[in-house]
Amino acid sequence: MTTQSTGLERIGNWKNVIVEFDAGIAWVTLNRPEKRNAMSPALNDDMVEVLDALEVNEDVGVVIITGAGESFTAGMDLREYFRAVDHLPYLQQVRARRSAWHWQWRVLMNYPKATIAMVNGWCFGGGFTPLVGCDLAIAADEAQFGLSEINWGIIPGGNVTRAVVATMNQRDALFYIMTGRTFDGKKAAQMGLVNESVPKAQLREHTRALAVELLGKNPTVLRAAKQAARAVQGMSWELSDDYLMAKSMQARFLDPDKGREKGLKQFLDEKSFRPGLGGYKRGE
Ligand code: COA
Repeated sequence: MTTQSTGLERIGNWKNVIVEFDAGIAWVTLNRPEKRNAMSPALNDDMVEVLDALEVNEDVGVVIITGAGESFTAGMDLREYFRAVDHLPYLQQVRARRSAWHWQWRVLMNYPKATIAMVNGWCFGGGFTPLVGCDLAIAADEAQFGLSEINWGIIPGGNVTRAVVATMNQRDALFYIMTGRTFDGKKAAQMGLVNESVPKAQLREHTRALAVELLGKNPTVLRAAKQAARAVQGMSWELSDDYLMAKSMQARFLDPDKGREKGLKQFLDEKSFRPGLGGYKRGE
């Protein structure tokens, strides 16, 4: 089964993931709708390849991850991970999960391009890791989230608990980890698990507009800014101050557009824009 045709240019030939180009945006769709996009080893292997390919693709500035059909993802595939690997020696069980953690948090959290999770429907358990791994997240009001692990007798592993406590406050995190109750997109936005929730009919256009806004930013500076926002979380104020100074200088050195100089010139000398209200004119 595949998603409805969007009319966009499709690249690659991955069985479990669809990748489509849309003027600087790569739409990455988890594509096992008949299994509610449960993340199987094959899907996780595909995602490692997809993110590797898009990372160095100069036509891509923003990656949007979503799911085919009525689901974002029903989490890790319970049949192909838990049941199929339970009998294996411990190290082989760990090995079997390597591609899952690799893309779901390690790659995503260090990704050089801006990433947005577009939560179109069910999002359970293991789905919280790539959800939080993405920089930003927009949900459909109608989407249903759940930390369902407690309902079938496990704790939220695979860094799901880590992802939840990084985004939700302690009361909410414990409430949903301990009860396994579902909550909708509006509640997810209210708790800060996603940035916004919109009616499902507007989800795609709304998410696309955010991606277009990000494409308007200086990509070198955007990359440095998002990497820094993650990195400073584990630092002291002293270390963070020094790191941010070094990161600023790195961005300035690497920026082919010389955005800092242009921004200052356009504001202070030419008076052609106001930084408080929008971006400088790039590429001039
Ligand atoms: N792992 C493996 N298979 C899964 C799956 C998962 N996480 N989630 C759904 N599937 C499979 C079902 O086994 C079923 O397969 P089948 O058609 O071969 O029997 C198919 O996907 C459809 O699932 P179904 O339960 O019939 O769909 P639904 O629309 O009625 O319900 C969910 C959707 C998401 C509510 C339900 O499938 C569910 O609870 N999934 C598990 C969610 C979960 O706890 N994930 C793990 C967190 S750690």
